[in-house]
Amino acid sequence: MKTTKFLSACLLLLPFMSCTQVSDTKDKAVENKVDKLLSKMTLEEKIGQMNQISSFGNIEEMSVLIKKGEIGSILNEIDPVRVNALQRVAVEESRLGIPLLIARDVIHGFKTIFPIPLGQAATFDPSVAEEGARVAAVEASSVGIRWTFAPMIDIARDPRWGRIAEGCGEDTYLTSVMGAAMVKGFQGDSLSSPSSIAACPKHFVGYGAAEGGLDYNSTFIPERRLRNVYLPPFEAAANAGAATFMTSFNDNDGIPATGNGFILKDVLRKEWGFEGIVVTDWASAKEMIPHGFAADDKEAALKAVNAGVDMEMVSYTFVNKLPELVKEGKVKEETINEAVRNILRIKYRLGLFDHPYVDEKKPSVMYADAHLAAAKRAAVESAILLKNDKRVLPLKETVRTVAVVGPLADAPYEQMGTWVFDGDKTHTKTPLAAIKEMYGDKVQVIFEPGLAYSRDHTTSGISKAVAAAARADVILAFVGEESILSGEAHCLADLNLQGAQSELIAALAKTGKPVVTVVMAGRPLTIGKEADLSAAVLYSFHPGTMGGPAIADILFGKEVPSGKTPVTFPKMVGQIPAYYSHNNSGRPAMRNETLLKDIPVEAGQTSLGCTSFYMDAGFDPLYPFGYGLSYTTFKYGDVKLSADELKKNDVLIVTFDLENTGDYEGTEVAQLYVRDKVGSVTRPVKELKRFTRVTLKPGEKKTVTFELPVSELAFYNINMEKVVEPGDFGLWVATDSQSGNEVSFKVVD
Ligand code: BGC
Repeated sequence: MKTTKFLSACLLLLPFMSCTQVSDTKDKAVENKVDKLLSKMTLEEKIGQMNQISSFGNIEEMSVLIKKGEIGSILNEIDPVRVNALQRVAVEESRLGIPLLIARDVIHGFKTIFPIPLGQAATFDPSVAEEGARVAAVEASSVGIRWTFAPMIDIARDPRWGRIAEGCGEDTYLTSVMGAAMVKGFQGDSLSSPSSIAACPKHFVGYGAAEGGLDYNSTFIPERRLRNVYLPPFEAAANAGAATFMTSFNDNDGIPATGNGFILKDVLRKEWGFEGIVVTDWASAKEMIPHGFAADDKEAALKAVNAGVDMEMVSYTFVNKLPELVKEGKVKEETINEAVRNILRIKYRLGLFDHPYVDEKKPSVMYADAHLAAAKRAAVESAILLKNDKRVLPLKETVRTVAVVGPLADAPYEQMGTWVFDGDKTHTKTPLAAIKEMYGDKVQVIFEPGLAYSRDHTTSGISKAVAAAARADVILAFVGEESILSGEAHCLADLNLQGAQSELIAALAKTGKPVVTVVMAGRPLTIGKEADLSAAVLYSFHPGTMGGPAIADILFGKEVPSGKTPVTFPKMVGQIPAYYSHNNSGRPAMRNETLLKDIPVEAGQTSLGCTSFYMDAGFDPLYPFGYGLSYTTFKYGDVKLSADELKKNDVLIVTFDLENTGDYEGTEVAQLYVRDKVGSVTRPVKELKRFTRVTLKPGEKKTVTFELPVSELAFYNINMEKVVEPGDFGLWVATDSQSGNEVSFKVVD
């Protein structure tokens, strides 16, 4: 596919540069084949292509349907022998021999499990995301899977929502860059390569804004916010050549995404020129009935297809109802033709007509050394050092005995995180195993978990953990969430540590030994209390197969942490949604608020001032977006701009010196934020526009340059036009979203 050559150059410039070449590159030969095949198809065969089933196990029963041309795609088949058997029926026994598209949710690895996407986002390293997706594609395609339902690029600003684990966090730009990298990794250099799998950016769109962080819930995202915040990652994914898109479950302002012609046709097809497949989410066509948007299956099919859906996942309303809808003239046959063209086009681009079968004899690529090494690198880069008092980390040579405690220290299944259908826990390396294996000659390890699992309320084990701690120089406490606590439908109203984990940390802290708390979780948890009691806190969003060695190397100083929070950590659930890129109120918090404990009894109504903050939590979060420490320290020099007045076609060049002022070689994620001071509509207080990872030796200093085209300051204005509005801008280059000194520039007409 020609488009893919184009990708590398575009990746770092995404999302605002349009790399879409889709229409120009429409391969005429493929289009001719599609049209020729389409002209031979009966209406029923066309509708059959629009039907995706989830494997129901019985090959004979599925074969009957495949032979009749009633199935276009099957999800959840992972055995190459079975995949080939089913494919053989499609290719050799159905009238037109159209191959099946075999799909599976390969979200952050097939067998070799990488950190959950939220962890990958914490690396601020698109090469990690790309490599993770590539490894997943190589492993998954080796069993015949040619379509994954990833990347999930829903902007999520509510950690109660369990699916925050599956995405890249709260930020539009970070998600755009990481999502595009994942698309590139899944699809490789050419979609037709047998090791490429079609990506499926999801969930289109707005799903992450579910009210109350409650999965499947309604969203209310007005068009401007949709365009400024939620759509850009999807546009970047489309520009990166994503072959398919998935609609989301939510209704936005009353319109379920699966029946929303504005987003599926006007935006996706007309504005972005998307030529691939739009698939529903699992039964989301039929679920428009309980939504109250369709009266029955027939109306659900009608609304989904007329809105621009091409393929229905599992709910059979298309197969059952489209024939009569076409006959009644309610759905035009040309609408069906267009959907089938989209499906066949991708099947051709995947090379399925030429090479429908997977090589059953190929030596296994699962858990290859290179895959494990890549997964380890991802886990290392994704770990975020949130606190490191008195530089307790890395552990010093004087540490002779470590007490390894906590329910996540040796939980091979749990550390893989959500959406792991195929990863095998026996391949997981846990922190306990890794510490013993890799550092057992340096330290004595006493293991006493204290609790059996993260929700365990049984406190009887805590005293044993405390006794172990008393014999150790340092306590390594592994706490967090089991994998079932995040992911689809797994929402929480309380984000404190579950079970008796808080009691465990409190009891350990009482020993007076330094507590190093390592949190493995699917979301940011409200860990302020535990952080206060700990000397150091390392946060590792479920780190996957190689999480143990990665964490062990960080704790013992072989690796230096460089991860940054891809999402704001609230102090309390009540602060949610807490995100850095909010608009300002007319009465912004002054950051000198009088909090509950200081408010005098019978205080006067206005004596606290009238600004925007919580009396119990204040305004600021526990950790802001983009935050993360290193073992070394970095000094940012003054920021220099190429000009302080720019025209709309100019490129702003931002330079600054970054110096490693500490004792370790380390990598800093330098971040560039801007603020558009006055707009025709209010603008966020800060927006991330660039980031880069800079590695420096102790004492080393580098001049770093960011190039920011002024065109990337565009937003959807009062007239819903994407424009750069002239005026004053603030700019920060900093270690996180709350730091840095502001410099100013102006954009003029
Ligand atoms: C999820 C999707 C997933 C699909 C197929 C749905 O429940 O929302 O993200 O891809 O199932 O398994």
